[in-house]
Amino acid sequence: MKTVNIAIMGFGNIGVGTYRGLEINHDAIAAKTGLDLKVAKIIELDIDRPREANPDRALFTTDRFEAFRDPSIDIVAELIGGIEPATTFMSEAMKHGKHVVTANKAALAANYERLTGEAEEAGVLFRFEAAVGGGIPVINAIETSLRSNQIDEVTGILNGTTNFILTQMTRAGRSYADVLKEAQEKGFAEADPTADVEGIDAANKLSILISLCFGDRVKVEEIPTIGISGVTPDDIAQAKAENKVVKLLAHAAKEDGEIICSVAPARIDANHPLAGVSDEFNAIYLKGNILGETMFYGKGAGPLPTGGAIIGDIIDIATRTK
Ligand code: HSE
Repeated sequence: MKTVNIAIMGFGNIGVGTYRGLEINHDAIAAKTGLDLKVAKIIELDIDRPREANPDRALFTTDRFEAFRDPSIDIVAELIGGIEPATTFMSEAMKHGKHVVTANKAALAANYERLTGEAEEAGVLFRFEAAVGGGIPVINAIETSLRSNQIDEVTGILNGTTNFILTQMTRAGRSYADVLKEAQEKGFAEADPTADVEGIDAANKLSILISLCFGDRVKVEEIPTIGISGVTPDDIAQAKAENKVVKLLAHAAKEDGEIICSVAPARIDANHPLAGVSDEFNAIYLKGNILGETMFYGKGAGPLPTGGAIIGDIIDIATRTK
């Protein structure tokens, strides 16, 4: 049995989800992989905040360098969120020879080349499955099986909070503010939910998908983005009358060598595969030149589903570096 020592950096919703996922599945993972995945440090400034996990207090440190300089730490899971200081902390971890796993779509969308380049320079592995689609294994699929295809088009429901809000407004006629509050309580929404409702979170994820699907960089600020704060109960009722549903769609396609992309609410036919994607579920609908259409579906937000993707990346790194 190989012990893999993990430092969780940031013990908010996703950090706690990762910790709890490891508690739940530690033995099953050990039986399948021969890996003893151990949380050896938790880097967190607010140690006393009540949480749905109770790790030994001795695991906590407020000093990230205590973990980065510790030769027994193999992998740092960056779960702070936001562009900075998270990007700097990931760079520092890599420079100290740590493999890095992250769920941080904002940092990745802003600093994709920098982070992937620094990982290569430092000779460490860098994985970010949880950054797009939460628990859905879409990044891995694009980087492995789908390499046989040229991807022509990608359309996604990439934000769980807004999909939850639109679903509840459509099904139950609930108010926007009431549903947003519930999404925050369930741990779907960003610390500042403006990023969710104004489409910025979806644009971050689309920017990452564009890099992976088309090998081109489109910065978040270059993606025309409209959120859902202007969607009214009338818009939803009108769509319903036309047998359509309102969804926040992130779309990118390569046309004549140019990337065409946007994030915006759209009315889609009730028969379209994306129309049935409800609540906090996300889906990524891809068209490959030899595969045709495929769709990845699952929970795009929430502590445990996202934590599951983080743990998957940790297992991948630990297996490759055995
Ligand atoms: N706030 C994000 C969402 C979390 O609602 O989808 C997952 O990235």
